[in-house]
Amino acid sequence: MTTQRIAVIPGDGIGPEVAQVGVQVLARLAQLKSLPLSFEWFDFGAERYLKDGTILPDGFMQKLRDDYAAVYFGAVGDPRVPGNEHAKGILLAMRFELDLYINLRPCLLFDERLSPLKGKGLPHLQLIMFRENTEGLYTGTGGTFKKGTPDEIAQEVEVNTRKGVDRILEAAFHHAEARGLTKVCMADKANVMLFGHGLWRRAFAEVAKKHPKIQAKAMYVDALAMDLIRQPEAYQVIVTNNLFGDILTDLGAALTGGLGLAASGNIHPGRVSLFEPVHGSAPDIAGQGKANPLAMLLSGSMMLEHLGHGAASLLLLQAVSEQVKHGRNTPDLAKALGCPVGTTQEVGAEVLARLELLTGA
Ligand code: IPM
Ligand code: MN
Repeated sequence: MTTQRIAVIPGDGIGPEVAQVGVQVLARLAQLKSLPLSFEWFDFGAERYLKDGTILPDGFMQKLRDDYAAVYFGAVGDPRVPGNEHAKGILLAMRFELDLYINLRPCLLFDERLSPLKGKGLPHLQLIMFRENTEGLYTGTGGTFKKGTPDEIAQEVEVNTRKGVDRILEAAFHHAEARGLTKVCMADKANVMLFGHGLWRRAFAEVAKKHPKIQAKAMYVDALAMDLIRQPEAYQVIVTNNLFGDILTDLGAALTGGLGLAASGNIHPGRVSLFEPVHGSAPDIAGQGKANPLAMLLSGSMMLEHLGHGAASLLLLQAVSEQVKHGRNTPDLAKALGCPVGTTQEVGAEVLARLELLTGA
């Protein structure tokens, strides 16, 4: 098998700490399972931007398309860059220009002690969200008129294309079918956003018809947000637009242990795709060994699956799951788990040891 090159972009804040653990664990796993992975580090982020104005160099996207199998991404965002324009130019630019139309975010509870919902445990919190990742309210379409005056007009235009909506819906149904799941729920606000979300409704009904074995349900996003707290077990696969997906996936993270465990993939099937923890750069805790590396590792597990290494992906998932249940954990989890506190590095080292055991090394 030819080498799969992975571009590592640790970024800002806690990004570098968690990326270091992530690559250390993935590199060892690659060694144990003879996976042909190579890691190359890139220093894009606030520091580089402040130093020489580089956001992403010319030709970098093409290089990713041509030469890389995946991007393993930490986080971007730094208080020294007001408005974080570099973050948009790095992360959102990759999502758009690489056409990573699926933002895949599992909401999986690893341990009952992490459930914030009374009476809801492992069987109730096993869902996955498909967030449209290339259009919606994120395209920067719009503008202001008479800015800074009392007559200012500001518009943000939501972009919904039939092709864009169809392909994310198809991805959600395909996922459900491939995993033997039975339910897909689509969230919109079609009662108010008649045009764009009317399109989502029509497309959903048509795509659902092509997948008759799957129970398809369209819901208003406000009702879904409420119901996810009341009965999360009613949902298996949720598919929605970019902004609603942004919000619902943070809700999903809160239901399953918080951002320290929330992983994601920005995926275009068959093409170079980007894997990142959902948490941001958390500058307030950067450099203190407090950052939870497990979201980065779980994102690594998703990357392995994307790269065709399903067995290794599952091993890593299992090692992380055991770590949550039986290991030391970072402060964000340790209190709820009642377990000893470990640093970012220590948690990473324990996961590594579990992998060695699991692979019989
Ligand atoms: C996320 C983040 C990003 C988003 C920000 C950093 C632009 O919140 O990945 O969920 O809104 O998509
Ligand atoms: Mn978000």
